[in-house]
Amino acid sequence: MPRVLSGVQPSGQLHLGNYAGAIKQFVDLQQTNEVFVFVASYHALTSLRDAATLRSNARQVVVDYLAFGLDPARTSIYLQQDVPEVTELAWLLSCVCPMSWMEKAVSYKDKVAKGLSANVGLFTYPILQAADILAVDANLVPVGKDQVQHIELTRDIAARFNEEFKAEVFTLPAYRLAADAGVLPGTDGEKMSKSYGNTIDPFLDEKALRKVIMSIKADSTPLDQPKNPDTDATFAIFRAIAGAADSRTLDLAGKYRAGGFGHGHAKQALFELLLDHFGPARQRRTELMADPAYVDGVLRAGAAKARARARATVDRARVAVGL
Ligand code: ADP
Ligand code: TRP
Repeated sequence: MPRVLSGVQPSGQLHLGNYAGAIKQFVDLQQTNEVFVFVASYHALTSLRDAATLRSNARQVVVDYLAFGLDPARTSIYLQQDVPEVTELAWLLSCVCPMSWMEKAVSYKDKVAKGLSANVGLFTYPILQAADILAVDANLVPVGKDQVQHIELTRDIAARFNEEFKAEVFTLPAYRLAADAGVLPGTDGEKMSKSYGNTIDPFLDEKALRKVIMSIKADSTPLDQPKNPDTDATFAIFRAIAGAADSRTLDLAGKYRAGGFGHGHAKQALFELLLDHFGPARQRRTELMADPAYVDGVLRAGAAKARARARATVDRARVAVGL
């Protein structure tokens, strides 16, 4: 059975961009694959500096994974720090990874340009990510577009290791983008991201959710004029959640083009779609928040499965390098 791995940093509350780009794929893939999904706490430490925040964010990501539909009977869910083999592997990988490969990585440059402090962890972030993936011998890594370079680097590092030590230690993974790949815009029309304060959290209470949807940026085309759905953030979000070929999406596009349909109408349609689409998830999340012992059990079982795989991989790597 193909093995799938992915993770999300617990750097803040999950949002619709994370769902559309990453989590929806995890849920779909668990039907026919062995899936590992973790919380990338060590990656978040490259920028987070508050213990209580990290702890509560990490917990919230797990609850949200479960609420969005990850099934612990099919998917191993764990915290990165519960599989310490990953950090051991990261060292072994860092010894074969040329400096120049890290210098080429765009996410480091982007983050520094945005004002994050340039710590060494941030610089070697892709090596730790490679270790996450290679530790469980993943074949496939579902991610959003911005992560493609990291998966390509993972392949390059794995291939370099195998070649330099003349041993088939690592499986080379491929990435997988969501079907309607593209970057989901936030309320300001830019990429939706925790770091930009433009996110939509589908678990907000109704009043707050409505308010944030009504704040999505729109052009000033008057109500009676036809509008172009393809340049509108509200429409892009609707399409990502309902699906591009869904009749509700096609119907909404028709209304934009016909005129006499205002941005307020479109936002109301998005609000109703989100309540409908995430209704069961919202309900499950409330139940999960009241059952911390269940969540603990999920994490224990997930970590045990991931650790067993990671230990075997690290043992192979140790033998290959002469340890
Ligand atoms: P953020 O930018 O909010 O910090 P992360 O970097 O933690 O998000 O991303 C977690 C996952 O969600 C990644 O696979 C990423 O590609 C995906 N993702 C994040 N934002 C978006 C977006 N706006 N559109 C599509 N996918 C996204
Ligand atoms: N870098 C990823 C992000 O910001 C999170 C991540 C860490 C990850 N390790 C991973 C994703 C391994 C996929 C596989 O979204």
